[in-house]
Amino acid sequence: MKTTSFRGRDFLAETDFSREEIEQVLELAQELKMDRAKGRLHDDLLRAKTLFMIFYNQSLRTRNSFEAGMTQLGGHAHYLDPDKIYRPAMEGREVAYSTERVSDVARVLDRMGDAIAIRCYGDPVDWEYGGAHAMLEEFARWSDVPVLNMEDDIYHPFQGLADTLTVKEKFGGYKGIKYTMSWAYSPSVHKPRAVPQSAILYATMMGMEVTLAHPKGMELDSKILAQCNQYAEASSGSFRITNDFEDGIQGAHVVYPKAWCATPIFQPPVGESDSKKTQAIFDQHKDWICTPGIMDTADKHAIYLHCLPCDRGFEVANEVIDRTTGSGWLSAAFDEAENRLHVQKAVMALVM
Ligand code: CP
Repeated sequence: MKTTSFRGRDFLAETDFSREEIEQVLELAQELKMDRAKGRLHDDLLRAKTLFMIFYNQSLRTRNSFEAGMTQLGGHAHYLDPDKIYRPAMEGREVAYSTERVSDVARVLDRMGDAIAIRCYGDPVDWEYGGAHAMLEEFARWSDVPVLNMEDDIYHPFQGLADTLTVKEKFGGYKGIKYTMSWAYSPSVHKPRAVPQSAILYATMMGMEVTLAHPKGMELDSKILAQCNQYAEASSGSFRITNDFEDGIQGAHVVYPKAWCATPIFQPPVGESDSKKTQAIFDQHKDWICTPGIMDTADKHAIYLHCLPCDRGFEVANEVIDRTTGSGWLSAAFDEAENRLHVQKAVMALVM
């Protein structure tokens, strides 16, 4: 496998990589996954290397899969709470002796370690859409070691990689696979749109038959939608949008329903009244829940995906997410979570 082109590269967005490169990452992830199952270690790959991880937001899967992945490859992942260092801040958002300019933090950490990973969206940037991604780009501009996106307000590229690997494992490829990314109801409106945007980018890049389903008013970023159309054309796949939940799920092989908050209705300055206004829109669509009944309308061998954490009883019924064995449609949400480990190990091994 030709992998030298990855060394030193940032992983901020899937759009920075070609389909061929993404396929190389997935092949390596599968190799690492198989080797781990056989007890074959690769603890020489990143021996004595350090990954610095800055989490502005909470995490179960991302933090632990990066930490476990670094340990398994022979290195170390170092967790940094922005409030326990000097909070990395962009120029203009600095507070004396509380924050430290992103350019300075990047140039300190890159002298001590081998990659810097960051999660940031929502409150830390006052829900200014694109503000967190701009901060990651600023880190990348100043850092001499790779910068990895652990989810920002536009992209969740490692989640999308894990989603794509799960589809590849379950269906053996992408051609003809009907992939539906759907909005689902949640009592919380504080949900970024990085997961659905990355999911549809990868799915169209790989040439699947992609449907984006959401109620009116829950539109995703128009630039992302334009990119999906381009990918679908280049890969001889397809991309369509429907505002009908049932139409979106019918006949799908991949059913991926989750909540997100739309671009136009939740913008800074975000206060109590914005949340209430958004909540009122969400509450009109409580019937967008993934039940066994709706899964029965999907393909007989459909898989249910969710990046997790999910809102049980709102986004999805227990009977769907917990149906991991048996015949007919099944939940692959926990395989998908495990795959975070394998795809991240592959990317870290390649870029670090
Ligand atoms: N899917 C995902 O990113 O999970 P965490 O928020 O737990 O990291």
